[in-house]
Amino acid sequence: MKFFIDTADVDAIRELHDLGMVDGVTTNPSLILKSGRNILEVTKEICSFVKGPVSAEVVALKADDMIAEGRKLAAIAPNIAVKVPLTWDGLKTCKVLSGEGFMVNVTLCFSANQALIAAKAGATFISPFIGRLDDINLDGLDLIGDIRTIYDNYDFKTQILAASIRNANHVKDCALIGADVVTAPPNVIKALASHVLTDKGLDQFNADWAKTGQKIL
Ligand code: G3P
Repeated sequence: MKFFIDTADVDAIRELHDLGMVDGVTTNPSLILKSGRNILEVTKEICSFVKGPVSAEVVALKADDMIAEGRKLAAIAPNIAVKVPLTWDGLKTCKVLSGEGFMVNVTLCFSANQALIAAKAGATFISPFIGRLDDINLDGLDLIGDIRTIYDNYDFKTQILAASIRNANHVKDCALIGADVVTAPPNVIKALASHVLTDKGLDQFNADWAKTGQKIL
């Protein structure tokens, strides 16, 4: 399973990138706001060291404008995936831009039928939002499972990019269900390494080591 990092914080991406944890990056208008950076500049900086897909989202609502924005974003670097919303205009944009050879990430997906129609429109990635479904007492992971079944039934090549990942269990469950990619904030990726018994065991080893009076270096 690939890890994309869901942030426009360049330092946080670099730290994980140096550990080999970054297969790609996703951004959205809220994350650009949080970064305090210009979208074109920050996206270019991310693409200068991340070689996998970097999603940059259009903000127009009409297909013609989305297509123009998408072409401008795609010109930043060859590894840009143009992110479009799951609306009819977004799907038209997806069809046109994927036809031009660009990667397209269709975002704000909340149903299996939306994922089906995005695949038909040639999406490279579909982004179902797990956390936001959980927020309204629906089951985000059920959606990932349904999309996996549908895509496998018909051999759709669209990759399932599980988004709105809020915790380490979401990552594990997505891996078990067979999501192709998870995009998670840096703190969630870091949390994957944590276990209370690891900390407890290390404390014990350190305490016993101190008692030996030995040194390795
Ligand atoms: O990239 C979109 C996404 O992952 C949103 O996450 O936590 O704002 O629902 P969240």
